[in-house]
Amino acid sequence: MQLKIYKDYPELSANVADEIISLIKRKPDAVICLASGDTPRLTCQVFAERAIKEKIDTSKFTFIGLDEWVGISPVNEGSCRYFFETLLIKPLNLSGSQVHLFDALSKNLSEECRKMDKAISEKGGIDLMIVGIGMNGHIGFNEPGVSFDNYAHVTDLDEITITVGQKYFKGSAELKQGITLGLKHLMNSKKAIVIANAAKKAPVIKKAIEGTVSDLFPATIIQQHANGCVMIDEEAASLLNK
Ligand code: PGA
Repeated sequence: MQLKIYKDYPELSANVADEIISLIKRKPDAVICLASGDTPRLTCQVFAERAIKEKIDTSKFTFIGLDEWVGISPVNEGSCRYFFETLLIKPLNLSGSQVHLFDALSKNLSEECRKMDKAISEKGGIDLMIVGIGMNGHIGFNEPGVSFDNYAHVTDLDEITITVGQKYFKGSAELKQGITLGLKHLMNSKKAIVIANAAKKAPVIKKAIEGTVSDLFPATIIQQHANGCVMIDEEAASLLNK
C-alpha cells in the first residue's frame, strides 16, 4: 500500500483528479468508481473543469457510483445521485448508458445490486476506485462488521453513519439503510485509492493504516490491496507514526 501526503485539501484534490484524468487519457474506456461526499467534492470539480478545459474525451469511460441512501429521492440534494448529477454528469454531459448509479427508490433492491454487479463484470471490472473513509472506518456503506466477501449489497446503517450523514441534508433525513458496492469490488479493482482530509479524519486514518486489518474497521482492508493507495492531506496524516 502506498501513502501519499499532500499539503492541503486543494493539493490533495488536484492530485486525485489527476489520477482520473491520466487514466482516461491512457484508457478512454476505463471503468471508474467514485464516492460522493465532502472529501471527493473538490476532486470531482477539478476533474470536470480540467476535462472540459483540456478537451479530454469523457464519452467512453464507464462511471460507477459507489453507494446510495436507501429511500432517498434522486432530487434530494443530499442523495449521492444529486451529487454526481451536479458535479459530473451534467458538466461533462455523460450519457445514461455510461453511468451506473443505484436506484435507491427501487422496490427490488437486490435486483439493483445484481444489475450493478453484472454491469461491472461485463465491463471487465473496475480500473480505478476512489473512496472516502467514514468516522467509523466504513468505505461506502461497508459498515463495521461487514463481510470482506460482499459484492453489491443492502445494509442497515451504523449509528455513526446515520448521525454523521445528516450533514449532507437540509433538515433531518430518515437514514436507515444503504445500498453499496462491496469490499470485493474494492479488492478486485485494478487500483484503489482511499482519500481523506482534515484533522477530524486523523484518528480514522491512523487506524486504517496502522491498525490490524479487521472487518470491525473496514478501511483497514486497503492495507491488503495489491495496488492500494492512501492519499491524504497533512492534517489527516497528523497522528501517523513518523
Ligand atoms: P465524507 O464522507 O467524505 O463526507 O467525509 C466519507 C464517508 O463517510 O465515506
